Amino acid sequence: MLNDFHHFQEALEKRKESGTLRILRQKEQGIDFYSNDYLGLAGNKDFQKVLLKNISENPQLLSGSTGSRLISGNSTMVTETENFIAKEHQYQSALLFPSGYSANLALFSTLPNRHDTIIVDEQIHRSVHDACKMSLAKKLKFKHNDPEHLEQILKRQDGSCYVGIESLYSMDGDMAPVKEIIEIIEKYKAKLIVDEAHAFGVFGYGLVDKFQLQEKVLATVVTYGKALGTHGAAILTHDIVKSYLINFASPFIYSTSAHDFLWMSVKKGYDFLNMNSELSIKLKENIKIFRDQHLKSPSAENSPIQAIIVPDNHQLKALKETLLVNGFLTYAVFSPTVKEGTERLRICLHSFNTEEEILELTRIIKKFV
Ligand SMILES: Cc1ncc(COP(=O)(O)O)c(C=O)c1O
Repeated sequence: MLNDFHHFQEALEKRKESGTLRILRQKEQGIDFYSNDYLGLAGNKDFQKVLLKNISENPQLLSGSTGSRLISGNSTMVTETENFIAKEHQYQSALLFPSGYSANLALFSTLPNRHDTIIVDEQIHRSVHDACKMSLAKKLKFKHNDPEHLEQILKRQDGSCYVGIESLYSMDGDMAPVKEIIEIIEKYKAKLIVDEAHAFGVFGYGLVDKFQLQEKVLATVVTYGKALGTHGAAILTHDIVKSYLINFASPFIYSTSAHDFLWMSVKKGYDFLNMNSELSIKLKENIKIFRDQHLKSPSAENSPIQAIIVPDNHQLKALKETLLVNGFLTYAVFSPTVKEGTERLRICLHSFNTEEEILELTRIIKKFV
């Protein structure tokens, strides 16, 4: 029947009953401790002025690209931006995408073939899991940040293995033991892909760049919707891999390229980031102020994402609401989204948060944990 939504309704009811129904709420007013705008670039008036100046000099930037990059959408702007990004990150090549989601989808669904195995950290971003569903390769998971478990799995495989990790994980705010993982990757001749969505801009250009691991990694993904305050993503890799993706990656081939405004904003974002290094210094200071309040957290000492475990859905809800009443916007992750007993308040720190705000936030949290 055309209008039989019974099946959808049932699934939504189930979510409602378990308290996990998602609804779209209007953006709230308040002190931001939940967005990924780590350096405040999304609301930075000077950055906006730079973008505005470029648009007013060249309004064409705002127009649609008119087609896939393989047909009519391959502008000079996108090509020049890719060349710039590759050079900045010391990679042979960069391939731009309109989002990190589509970049991961392209990478993990295209490179491994039917005889290969994709092995991912159990906490890797959903986009990678979705890519694996599109791939014919076998998918396996290793325990979060556990190189020994990764090794046990690798030992048992015979075909080519692709390993996927994030450098800074978005739920726990903890870092991957990248160097240990690379040792194992090399031992078993596997190929490593690192998603730096949350590390890029916060730790310079990310951990691969910081530790100069470009040669050891098959591809790195950096995204521009978080610390860069704009949108889009780049896959950083070898010329041959870029060419392979251009030839075989459906999310790249069968989609209209974004407008030039996006690529221009990415290029200007890099320039702005490099000219305003005080923003990441300020962010580091704010992370230290937060950590000095000694709240129990599984997150890394220097991470802008700080998870506070509140192991009870009701208690967590009460905390989130108390914070909201006091003007603080935070994000609560309830079970069963996370395992029972690991329900958490997820706090994102920013360069623009003030010391008073951080102290007041932690003072309220302390009453609940
Ligand atoms: C680790 C990670 N990878 C990829 C993505 C997807 O990036 P985008 O939001 O640009 O699609 C996200 C964003 O939520 C993320 O956290």
